[in-house]
Amino acid sequence: MLQNDNRAQFSTRLGVIATTVGSAVGLGNIWRFPYEAGTHGGGAFLITYLCFIFAFGIPILCAEFMIGRGTHSNIFGAFRQLRSSGKWHWVGYIGIVASIMILSFYSVVAGWTLEYLYQSITGALNLNSQEAYHAQFQQFSTHPWRPLLWTILFLIVNFVIVIRGVQKGIERMSNIMMPILFLILIIFCVNSLLMPGAKEGLEFLFSPDFSKIDSSVMVSAMGQAFFSLSLGLGTMMTYASYFSKETHIVKSATITACLDTTVAILSGVIIFPAVFTFGVSPTQGPALVFEVLPNIFNQLPGGSLWSILFFFLLFIASLSSTISMSEVSIAYFTEEKKMSRNKATILNTAIALIFGTLCALSFNCLDNITIAGMTIFSIFDYVSSNILLPAGGMFISFFAGWLLDRSFIHNQLTNNGSVKVRVTKAIIFSLKYVAPTGIILVFLSSLKLI
Ligand code: PHE
Repeated sequence: MLQNDNRAQFSTRLGVIATTVGSAVGLGNIWRFPYEAGTHGGGAFLITYLCFIFAFGIPILCAEFMIGRGTHSNIFGAFRQLRSSGKWHWVGYIGIVASIMILSFYSVVAGWTLEYLYQSITGALNLNSQEAYHAQFQQFSTHPWRPLLWTILFLIVNFVIVIRGVQKGIERMSNIMMPILFLILIIFCVNSLLMPGAKEGLEFLFSPDFSKIDSSVMVSAMGQAFFSLSLGLGTMMTYASYFSKETHIVKSATITACLDTTVAILSGVIIFPAVFTFGVSPTQGPALVFEVLPNIFNQLPGGSLWSILFFFLLFIASLSSTISMSEVSIAYFTEEKKMSRNKATILNTAIALIFGTLCALSFNCLDNITIAGMTIFSIFDYVSSNILLPAGGMFISFFAGWLLDRSFIHNQLTNNGSVKVRVTKAIIFSLKYVAPTGIILVFLSSLKLI
């Protein structure tokens, strides 16, 4: 699909949903959501996150879809086409910086997935206590070269797929893999609901203590909403440039957001009952799911088979996400800087290798380099997800709400009047007022300015 410039299109409606969901569903849902929810009060985080998904997420996803399909262009070209004067293409630079930062730390976690896949195969994950799983992760993540090796390996796999333009193969594969992932998540959910800590876990996730909603919860829930929907950096815009004129934008955005959110919630329902059953602190941070999931699998009949299947599927889910984020800078280098696809892919990977190395090493030899108590890995995660993506989203929503021609919006949302969309007004209202002001208010409150 994305390998040449003749702007092929997704042939089926399923193709559209599968690719956008392929980008959205990944480590963000299964690794990042539980750890963010765990450190930010569980239910308080979930409810705030859901508000952001519906109030800003879906409207901004619609905006990226409209702009992408309407201009058939990457984020730079799109803004230039729609507004030749002005500096709007700068939003593209935010997207590129964010995409490279995310690719760097994401590859480290995807590397952990590969290590855990490997350990499941060799039987090294058959341990007998939660302490042992904790020690196992600590030992691995602080190892001087192992995590780095996996990070590099993951980036190479990503590179080979992107440079050969064989995304189609991966997309076809993820069309099959995603439903399987979904299915086994449901099985794991049932298993977790039968655990002794189920009640406590579900209460933690689903009964919000509203007094806990402060600016830090809001910033991280907002960041998580953007991260999980692959929003604010032009990924979805680039994908939408391949939509056909029949693609129903509002429906596609809603389905993508709902499936993505469902996977995150399923993941929470798997993790938190286990967290309370095994006596783990939910505030562990990035290590959380890697310490808890293997213990869950170990207690299932056929343990390592589940674990192999799961980590393999998670690896594919991560890959379909990194392919989509790589496309942001590759589209910039090829379409704006007129580089060949090969050069662009090499450049993208080389930059990610440098920063990915720093992120991987920030768990061991670089762990003393911190800013405001955050390691290099956490800074990349925090700055890209909680600052750059919402900032990009704010500009996109402002642009769509205030500067885009109303007839352009109308034609895009209704496919030139051929489908009825009842929520057009609500979407425009959000893009115009709710999303931009909401995002600014969250930023201001986190800076303690309000
Ligand atoms: N949404 C992806 C996930 O949840 C991550 C991602 C972010 C992908 C930004 C593309 C762009 O794992």
